[in-house]
Amino acid sequence: MKTLFKLAGLLAMTGALISCGDNKEMADYQIIPLPQEVVTTSNGEFVLDNGTKIIYLGDNEMMQRNAQFLAGYLKKATGADYTTEAGTDGKGNILLSLGLTAETPEAYQLDVTSDGVSITGASEAGVFYGIQTLRKSVSPVINSTPVLAAVQIKDYPRFGYRGVHFDVSRHFFTVDEAKSYIDMMVLHNMNRLHWHLTDDQGWRLEIKKYPLLTEIGANRKETVIGRNSGEYDGKPYGGFYTQEQAREIVAYAAERYITVIPEIDLPGHMQAALAAYPHLGCTGGPYEVWTQWGVSDNVLCAGNDSVLTFIDDVFSEVMDIFPSRYIHVGGDECPKAKWGTCPKCQARIKTLGLKADAKHSKEEYLQSFIINHAEKFLNEHGRRIIGWDEILEGGLAPNATVMSWRGEGGGIEAAKQKHDVIMTPNTYLYFDYYQTKDTENEPLAIGGYLPIERVYNYEPMPASLTPEEQKYIIGVQANHWSEYIPTYSQLQYMALPRWAALSEVQWTNPDKKNYKDFLSRLPRLINLYALEGYNYATHVFDVKADFVANSADGTVDVVMGTIDNAPIHYTLDGTEPTTTSPVADSILVIKESCTLNALALRPTGNSRMLTEKIAFSKSTSKPTKANQPVNKQYQYNGVTTLTDGLKGNGNYKTGRWIAFYRNDMDVTIDLQQSTRISSVAFTTCVEKGDWVFDARGFTVEVSDDGNNFTEVASEEYPAMKESDRNGLYEHKLTFTPVQARYVRVLVPSEKSIPQWHGGRGNSGFLFVDEVTIE
Ligand code: ACM
Ligand code: ZN
Repeated sequence: MKTLFKLAGLLAMTGALISCGDNKEMADYQIIPLPQEVVTTSNGEFVLDNGTKIIYLGDNEMMQRNAQFLAGYLKKATGADYTTEAGTDGKGNILLSLGLTAETPEAYQLDVTSDGVSITGASEAGVFYGIQTLRKSVSPVINSTPVLAAVQIKDYPRFGYRGVHFDVSRHFFTVDEAKSYIDMMVLHNMNRLHWHLTDDQGWRLEIKKYPLLTEIGANRKETVIGRNSGEYDGKPYGGFYTQEQAREIVAYAAERYITVIPEIDLPGHMQAALAAYPHLGCTGGPYEVWTQWGVSDNVLCAGNDSVLTFIDDVFSEVMDIFPSRYIHVGGDECPKAKWGTCPKCQARIKTLGLKADAKHSKEEYLQSFIINHAEKFLNEHGRRIIGWDEILEGGLAPNATVMSWRGEGGGIEAAKQKHDVIMTPNTYLYFDYYQTKDTENEPLAIGGYLPIERVYNYEPMPASLTPEEQKYIIGVQANHWSEYIPTYSQLQYMALPRWAALSEVQWTNPDKKNYKDFLSRLPRLINLYALEGYNYATHVFDVKADFVANSADGTVDVVMGTIDNAPIHYTLDGTEPTTTSPVADSILVIKESCTLNALALRPTGNSRMLTEKIAFSKSTSKPTKANQPVNKQYQYNGVTTLTDGLKGNGNYKTGRWIAFYRNDMDVTIDLQQSTRISSVAFTTCVEKGDWVFDARGFTVEVSDDGNNFTEVASEEYPAMKESDRNGLYEHKLTFTPVQARYVRVLVPSEKSIPQWHGGRGNSGFLFVDEVTIE
């Protein structure tokens, strides 16, 4: 992994110099997440000097701890010691108190006048968030004296559930790492830790009644290399938390107003448990703790009464460790193959009288039976369940909260059914996805493309819901599946600074949000990441470029920028830019094929290089019309993407590729004058595992008037075979030269995925990046 800025360099860049002596540092309330209301007043300023004390109200252990947290933060930022004491008189000091009247208990008010600082919370948690705001406002400058301008901040969170998820099954993280993760949450005002404790690849929580769950289920004999390459590392891998350790983490979180929500993922994602107790599976095994990634077919047997007892026993111990009102029962990705042929499962289906109907298979109803069982047991003990959105299939358990991960559709459906919803759509909030298109220079990730701007612009409240239904959207969470996150340092890299963007989605009302403004505030938060020693991604400091196919001028217009307005130097001949290269300070107009290289040059070091090949052909920046729709999920800039001169790489989610699904790529390009042409070419990106297939044919038609077209060339392609590789496929039709103004390109997508594939019979996606005409 490349680290762009060394700590000192970054601190220098953002104006927070390490210095000696008693220099004054103005605090800055432009923090993340942005408070709801920041009003500067004319009441002077307050200096946090040696004599300033942190006074907390009354005989309250939580308030005492709050005061100590604040003293700890200030010590770390400035090096100074601030004493804490119980009391009521805040004059000349920082006074922490309760009693704010507000709609949410997490609200606080922070007042600075020349007389002192007061943080008043609607609860101890509210005071804690006020402390976070104060902490983030003070610049981390050792031996400095913070000066606070007079201000009144009134703040409260938009959502009560502000979560992140922690997958410790695929890779295990230590108790200290879990605590560090909680500290990271604190910095972002988050309050729910969703702890994914069990999965096919490892069971990580001690259960006293079933000791083999950790003796056997916590250890896999080896791990697959890369993305299920078929090769294995040969190294045993394991780890688990004793109940005592889990309690320690729960307590550590609770002191920081964070609730730990444990997940025991059932009835699928259970192969590690089956390895320990094979009688819980449909076939009786033997099973091994899974050594590869994906979704195992080996799931709990829904026809076996001892499985129901197992569920009750495990949750009994889980409830004893975790005071959380919510317990997550999983429910995602449970293949029904084994149930379909298991005599016990089929007998249960018969006993329960489950029948397939137009909406669900009888096995989907059987899954609801299992989830209902878990819910009933937990409800009887005063708890509530959360499940992934698959729990909608077969009917929702009566009181279930739905975690919507396969987009927002499940969440919308659940809200309409008057069930609480937590939004975690994978297209916005799966932080195991890449945060850059430059995947070749990144540590391996699961795939996808989820830059920080996309996270920031996520709006979790579906406009299609009525105001009454919108009340069921209670929160937002990002997920960090750890198949490709082998170390804690890598986990931090995937989380930061995307958590900063997430925190404003979770906390700040949408009318206050603005991406550019957020970026201007981000370097200050990144200073704190550096101070805490967190490993964070530095992509936000790279050159960002927007490319526009300008069909009026037949050019590709490029606008470049950086988060801190650092000067960007560029070249168009493939060489590396230097300080003498031209500066990109306005729109860069590209008229012919070239390689654009751009660098932000900073005194502290250069950014990574932005490199983009722009290839002009007769179709580049020509008006392009879709005769059949582009798939909504992957439409990016629409069909102009096909004629913008830019090619994609092997990742179909970068925005360079657009998709056609259930219909064909069918576009007409207007060359704007009669033009002699002799070939048309396009490239597809294939990822069979994701139902993304190559084209099934290619036809080129031409016309002078845009109405009457004549075919000039055509070919068909066979369905893909299992042995065909993934990646890029180039297709080109060459024909006797013709004169034409309009060119229609018709490329059929796969309409029936072949039998050898899990998606057999369904439509496949067709991804195309560019149509090149010569
Ligand atoms: C999930 O990503 N399987 C919930
Ligand atoms: Zn079974």
